[in-house]
Amino acid sequence: MDAIRAARLTRVYPQAPPGVRALDDLSLTVPSGRVFGLIGRNGAGKTTFIRIAATQLEPTAGQIEILGHDVMTQTDQVRARIACVPQESRPLYFLTVEEAIRLNLGLRGMSRQIARSRTQEVLGELSLTELATRSISRLSGGQRRRVMVAMVLATEAELIFLDEPTTGLDPIARREVWGAIRRATREGRTTLLTTHYLDEAETLSSRLALIERGRLVLEGTPQDLRGRVRSPYRVTVEGSFSLEELRSFGTARAIEPGFLVFASEANARALAQEALRRGARVAFGPVDLEDIFLEVVGRRIEDDREEAVAA
Ligand SMILES: Nc1ncnc2c1ncn2[C@@H]1O[C@H](COP(=O)(O)OP(=O)(O)OP(=O)(O)O)[C@@H](O)[C@H]1O
Ligand SMILES: [Mg+2]
Repeated sequence: MDAIRAARLTRVYPQAPPGVRALDDLSLTVPSGRVFGLIGRNGAGKTTFIRIAATQLEPTAGQIEILGHDVMTQTDQVRARIACVPQESRPLYFLTVEEAIRLNLGLRGMSRQIARSRTQEVLGELSLTELATRSISRLSGGQRRRVMVAMVLATEAELIFLDEPTTGLDPIARREVWGAIRRATREGRTTLLTTHYLDEAETLSSRLALIERGRLVLEGTPQDLRGRVRSPYRVTVEGSFSLEELRSFGTARAIEPGFLVFASEANARALAQEALRRGARVAFGPVDLEDIFLEVVGRRIEDDREEAVAA
């Protein structure tokens, strides 16, 4: 069974300017048991989608099913099977880290004994053991964020929503969160993840959806997404070339301290060889998710601008 099936979802916020739809006829299916990455610019509609799927906000139009239950009519069944780390959250400041995690599990109906052992496990996994008896009000921003993530990953929810779980986390803590997400996946659970770190989205997700202005732009495996861009290879070179010369290989632009060229595989190889011959520094490989994002979203912004000028 799919974890999420959204059909033609639209959300218009009451105070939104005329014509602005946070979600605009968005259909999306999230298969079970994997990590699904939801990416897009600020304001694209990611949090709105998560809030609707997590039963916190009603859609203006459209349907959405979570693990086979309709979000609008079977809200309680949905709530029992999901857990959510919201983008902005006010954790329970008066509790200690350990209490917050354990009490949340108790509220979800977990037995005391299991709640205790799951709490210890997740504290270890996210390096929170040393902070276990500290009051949440005395933690740093990143530490508090980790507690929120721990609270959700400790549950037995089949579907986990993580809205920018690693924003503000140091590189080590980020990787610990990745490990905890991977473990949830091994347990057969589904994660819907949003992040602006596209390396993270690509590393963790088996499928990704790119949304822009509430609409679905691209959806598929990281491999599928690569196939959707005009130039599948990227080359960076430093020195020994002029921009004009590089343009004969593909789309080129100056980036500090050299140039970035998007090209076909054959042209990318030819350019890399030529650069080596001239003794220039060069790196080449398939485009990454950030390149795809910049190309696809960048192109849409340009198209919109042209439309606006033509109108
Ligand atoms: N409570 C609200 N009232 C009115 N408009 C809102 C509200 N929350 C979000 N919006 C608008 O809805 C659109 C989608 O916002 P949303 O928070 O879903 O974006 P997002 O993709 O999560 O962005 P970010 O990456 O910045 O978190 C934006 O145009 C935003 O301004
Ligand atoms: Mg958001």
